[in-house]
Parts: sequence; C-alpha cells; structure tokens
Amino acid sequence: MSKEHKEPKSTPSPVIADGRTLGVIGAGVMGQTLIKGLLASGLIERERIWAGDKNAATCETARKALEVSVQVDFHARVPTADLILICVKPADAAAALASLKSGGLRPDTLLISILAGASTERLESLLGADNPVVRAMPNTPAIVGEGMTVICRGTRATADHLARARHIFEAVGKCLPVDEVHFNAVTALSGSGPAYQYLIMEALADAGVRVGLPRHLALTLVSQTALGAARMVQATGRHPAALRDDVTTPAGCTIGGLLMLEDGRIRSVLARAVEEAARIAANLGPPAAKPPEPPAPHRAGH
Ligand SMILES: NC(=O)c1ccc[n+]([C@@H]2O[C@H](COP(=O)([O-])OP(=O)(O)OC[C@H]3O[C@@H](n4cnc5c(N)ncnc54)[C@H](OP(=O)(O)O)[C@@H]3O)[C@@H](O)[C@H]2O)c1
Repeated sequence: MSKEHKEPKSTPSPVIADGRTLGVIGAGVMGQTLIKGLLASGLIERERIWAGDKNAATCETARKALEVSVQVDFHARVPTADLILICVKPADAAAALASLKSGGLRPDTLLISILAGASTERLESLLGADNPVVRAMPNTPAIVGEGMTVICRGTRATADHLARARHIFEAVGKCLPVDEVHFNAVTALSGSGPAYQYLIMEALADAGVRVGLPRHLALTLVSQTALGAARMVQATGRHPAALRDDVTTPAGCTIGGLLMLEDGRIRSVLARAVEEAARIAANLGPPAAKPPEPPAPHRAGH
C-alpha cells in the first residue's frame, strides 16, 4: 500500500467526535484492526474508545498496541457507550450480548456487529432488547484505511443509524449498504478476499524468484503491480478484460502467460474458492440455543 493511513481529518466528525463514546467488545484481530484504523483516521479521539475482551493476555497486548483502555472487566463501561462494535467470534455472540445486557446497556446504544454468518434477526433475538442493530462485514485492510465494508440494518435501526455506521467504516476505507441476502457472498468475496490476494501475491513473488529475481524485489514488483491494477479498475471504470487487452501485444509474452493461467483453470478455481467460502459463511452463525432438558424420568423409591 502506498499510504500507511489516511491523514487525520482537520474538522471533527459530527458522528463520533462530538463527545460520543465507542465501546469495542472483542479486542482480537478485527477489534484491534478497526480501532487502529479509526484512530489513524482521526474520526474519534483515543479517550473516547474503550474495549473489552474476556482474554487477559489479549487485553494486555491490545492495550499496549492501541494505547486505549482494554479490560476484562469492561461491564461498568457499557452504559457509557453510544456505539458498541461487536468483534467476537460468532460462537461467542450469545455470551457477549448477554454481558452487554447485564452490564446495563442503554436502550439508545447502537450495536454494530461484524460477525460472519450472524443475521440481524438472530442478533436481535439473542440480545432480547430493543437496541438498534447494524450488521457489517469489514475486512482487514481497514487498518491502512483501505478496508471494504458492507452494512445493512436490523428491524429497529433507522436510516440515521445506518448512516452513522457507514460514517465509521468510511473512515477506514469504502463502505456500501447492501441487502442482507448478499452477506454470505460478500463475506466470501471481500471479507476473506485479502487472504486470496496474499496467496496470489506470494505465488507470483515465488514465480519471480523462479525466473531469477531477488525475493524482496519480486515482492515489491508484485504488490505495487496489484495496487496499480486495482487503481486502474477503480479509476477508469473500464472492465478488467478491456484493461487486460491493453497489456496483451499480439504474439507477445503476456498472451503466453495468460494462456498458461487459463490452462490452469484459474477462473474456475477462484470461483470455487469463493463458492466454498460462501457455503461455510452460511453456517457460521451463533449456535442455536439448546432445547430445554426433558424432565428426568420419575424413579420409584426403594
Ligand atoms: N478476521 C477477519 O478477517 C474478519 C473479517 C471480517 C469479519 N470478521 C469477524 O470478526 C469477528 C472477530 O474475528 P477475529 O478474527 O477478530 O477473532 P479473534 O481474533 O478471535 O478475536 C475475538 C476476541 O474476542 C474475545 N471474546 C470472546 N468472547 C468474548 C466475550 N464474551 N466478551 C469479550 N471478549 C470475548 C476472544 O477471546 P478468546 O480468544 O479468549 O476467545 C478474542 O480475543 C468474527 O465474528 C469474524 O466473523 C473477521
């Protein structure tokens, strides 16, 4: 990436910086990524963010990395939050939401969940309170201000709540509202997407080494080429196939390389990868509540 992060904004945002407080539940990879990205964007002051995590070691690491309050015992802070980002694994959603409720969650606090596979309907039912809920699917390049996030709103969230969530994610990249029906596909394409791109870049860098380049040079060439190609698609609005044609001289080396990629069925391999990730995303949600135990059979006394 050519820039570490966006420059802090000169004028404070009306959305968070007007004295609102943001709580983040789960200070693992994504919790830390979003906090770092938001701090770098200048959208929120450090003093207005707190985080909670049930893992004491993670709290310690996150506190050092972020220089914000990160506590195992975060419950007393819950009523101070105007917005809460929920960044735990889907399986931990029920416990995290229960801890918010028992911590004295205010009814006007906006909850933004980034959990893969957890529908707004499921989140609302697990919460069992009338708070507005927005569902988001971000990705890790948010840490350098180049994230891609989609959002949708639950039944109790208004257009204003959605706009607030959008403002947060736009501070760390692009953000689009989409219909919730697309969330598993989005999770597979842009949520998991950075991992595919890293694998492709790693493979191309290895290819560079194979044809004689020093590894660090190969990786620089590959990452800058990926960035440049992405910028070309966005800046020109042209179809990638048309941009590819521009690079493909008759009888040249590029068409030779492209045909080898087609022989390796690169299109169907990528499509199958995304299809498989979407299938898994569809089954990732918080586990269903266990049905109540049937009453123990009556045993006659001896
Ligand atoms: N990683 C990605 O690229 C990505 C992208 C988009 C969305 N997501 C979503 O982001 C969520 C978090 O993923 P992640 O990779 O950041 O996971 P992670 O690194 O495991 O972080 C989750 C953290 O939450 C803690 N936690 C669990 N239950 C808790 C509770 N009840 N209260 C407070 N803290 C609790 C965990 O502690 P323990 O370790 O002790 O369990 C862990 O430190 C997932 O739902 C995932 O679907 C991830």
